[in-house]
Amino acid sequence: MVSAVTVAGVGMTPFGRGGEQTAREMFGEAAAEAFDDADVPRDAVEEVFYGNYMGEFAEQQGHQGPLAAEAAGVSAPATRVESACASSGVAVRFGYEKIRSGQADVVLVGGAERMTNLSTPDATQALAAAADALWEIRAGVTFPGAYSLMANRYFHEFGGGREDLAHIAVKNHENALENDLAQFQKSIDVDDVLDAMTVCSPFGLFDCSPMSNGAAAAVLVSDEFATEHGLDAPVSIRGAGQHSDHFALADRASIPRAPAAERAAEMAYEDAGLGPDDVDTAEVHDCFTIAEVLALEALGFYEPGEGISAATNGETTIDGEFPVNLSGGLKAKGHPVGATGCAQISEMTKLLRGDHVNSSALEDATAGLTHNAGGTVASCVVHILEVER
Ligand code: COA
Repeated sequence: MVSAVTVAGVGMTPFGRGGEQTAREMFGEAAAEAFDDADVPRDAVEEVFYGNYMGEFAEQQGHQGPLAAEAAGVSAPATRVESACASSGVAVRFGYEKIRSGQADVVLVGGAERMTNLSTPDATQALAAAADALWEIRAGVTFPGAYSLMANRYFHEFGGGREDLAHIAVKNHENALENDLAQFQKSIDVDDVLDAMTVCSPFGLFDCSPMSNGAAAAVLVSDEFATEHGLDAPVSIRGAGQHSDHFALADRASIPRAPAAERAAEMAYEDAGLGPDDVDTAEVHDCFTIAEVLALEALGFYEPGEGISAATNGETTIDGEFPVNLSGGLKAKGHPVGATGCAQISEMTKLLRGDHVNSSALEDATAGLTHNAGGTVASCVVHILEVER
């Protein structure tokens, strides 16, 4: 068994549209909750990694590493990490590696994003900067547009259709129903999804994650620190992996495949000494419904072409054999892009240790995987968490 990194504490603001809080204020709130949860003093922190994607667009704010540390009440070297929607997932991995390499015992990781102070067109344009400026943005590609290309190509190569995607949206809204941190606590059915306004064919409103504000944080510590300080923290990160792919969709060998996720997963499985069969649940990056399918296949849970029917068949629902996105996912929990990766760690930690509203679905579970993607999966980071029972 490889040595692990303990998740001492986690924190997350409610995700949603409301509030006038700046990203730094939201991060301060999430970090305060993580420190309380961890029972670790702020002055123990030796390094901060903070994810944010669109601060320059939304708040005219750059140089956010030290700003995030100050907001969290921490004095330590602090670095902003940007990898589009995978920004804080990568921040978590940097913190994990820092501890694994023996360079630190206590690291604060997290991220925040404020999106809804921009109009939807302005936020769409800001998000589009995570695509290829020369070959995609100038051709009018936005993220709903790019993922709809992936969905249409998937249907062409493997079959499946809008109704299968609708089951994913219905499932993720159902999972978020009792999650007070989720942006949408609203039940929908397949007809609601199919009848909703078209955003970009084949996607309607409910195939898309929303524009959101929010922050998430986690205090990571070495196992030695956790033992020495008698921390009550049963969840640890056992493995991490990160990879990249051709930036523009046109350069990919196959549009409905995600090799960056495949390779990040291989690295994480190898690091953890586990495989897909050992994983009991996953929080995957469902920025659009098709993205959940691509993730399930890239992570080795389903063969190519088989992930599309997982929700339709009830296999990934809360009472299915492999529940996926028990938090509500990006679809219903919300997607403040720079906060999402760490929010997955926060939700998975709570799910595994038994204090999440949906933990009852995981009574015998030992391992959960988080998958956080940037752009059209040009970057991807995967973590595998385990709980000691
Ligand atoms: N799912 C469910 N409901 C949504 C929603 C979503 N994704 N987005 C908005 N809504 C709801 C709002 O809550 C609001 O409901 P109300 O009238 O009951 O208050 C209503 O729809 C209108 O909201 P509004 O914000 O005006 O919608 P919009 O048309 O401006 O934006 C999208 C809708 C789908 C275009 C926008 O959310 C979007 O672009 N999402 C994708 C974000 C993205 O690309 N992220 C990066 C991924 S890589």
